[in-house]
Amino acid sequence: MEISITDHSCSSSGNFKYKGAHLAFRDRWKKTDDTMCRHSMSFHLHHTLRNEFFASYLYLLEQIPLVKLFPVTCEYIQGEKQFYYRAQQFYEDVPASEEGMMGDFVEISNVDLEGSRQFLQRFVGPGKAGTHCALDCGSGIGRVSKGVLLPMFEKMELADMMEHFLLYAHEEYLGDDADRIETYYCYNLQEFTPPPKKYDVIWIQWVACHLTDKDLLNFLIRCKNSLRPNGVIVMKDNMARQGCRLDPIDSSIIRHLDIMRDIILKARLEVLAIEKQEGFPEANVPVWMIAMQ
Ligand SMILES: C[S@@+](CC[C@H](N)C(=O)[O-])C[C@H]1O[C@@H](n2cnc3c(N)ncnc32)[C@H](O)[C@@H]1O
Repeated sequence: MEISITDHSCSSSGNFKYKGAHLAFRDRWKKTDDTMCRHSMSFHLHHTLRNEFFASYLYLLEQIPLVKLFPVTCEYIQGEKQFYYRAQQFYEDVPASEEGMMGDFVEISNVDLEGSRQFLQRFVGPGKAGTHCALDCGSGIGRVSKGVLLPMFEKMELADMMEHFLLYAHEEYLGDDADRIETYYCYNLQEFTPPPKKYDVIWIQWVACHLTDKDLLNFLIRCKNSLRPNGVIVMKDNMARQGCRLDPIDSSIIRHLDIMRDIILKARLEVLAIEKQEGFPEANVPVWMIAMQ
């Protein structure tokens, strides 16, 4: 397996001291196999990965050789982080429809929305979160906005990296309710800073899986700063039964609940409730809802 070490990965000062070790192993990598990968893991790679995935969960828990992980997680080509580039490429071909949002599991959409409505009700109302404004992160076409958030909040905002999803939400999918959408943010969440102290609820569904551990942690911190008093962040996502799973096609990571808890803890958020979504087929990856503030 050919590994390209870009200038980027050498540029942070901490990595320079590992360059010698990296160069020493470089020739061996050229004819590497799985065993060699494990044994020829250079400090350089190790530290790049540790910087990017601060706990290197995929390596520690899944024992995937770091040399193999590098191209799917930390590699930059022409200034573009390949992990995010791949997700972008993937969603360009996804149709702006409920089927597209549900990845061929559209039949569970109603159960999902009903589970979300019931969960959210616990945190909204007198003495709890208000009903003024909500933000739907990784909103896609606004499936959650339409089925869960718009019936509960006066105003809403949507954030997604794909313009064609947001356009479809505004022009067709949300119908007259589109008038109550204050702003559509066409942003990558890893670069997005939501406005301060604006939202009663921030909903993050099936998109935390598309952020690296480090970017997710920092995004949660930024979300915390954009909550109004008593505001709540709800994350809903697939959670691995064990360890972590990386899907290199759409660049999604399924994390075990404990790993997610660890990230939330590191963001200094308090978990209010955790609940498993019931009613999904047993064969599906379990989906959990986490409320935090
Ligand atoms: C599986 S869909 C889920 C959409 C919606 N949350 C729902 O439950 O119907 C994932 C969405 O996340 C968006 N997305 C993926 N990675 C993203 C990123 N890094 N920043 C912003 N949006 C992202 C995709 O464009 C897509 O709309």
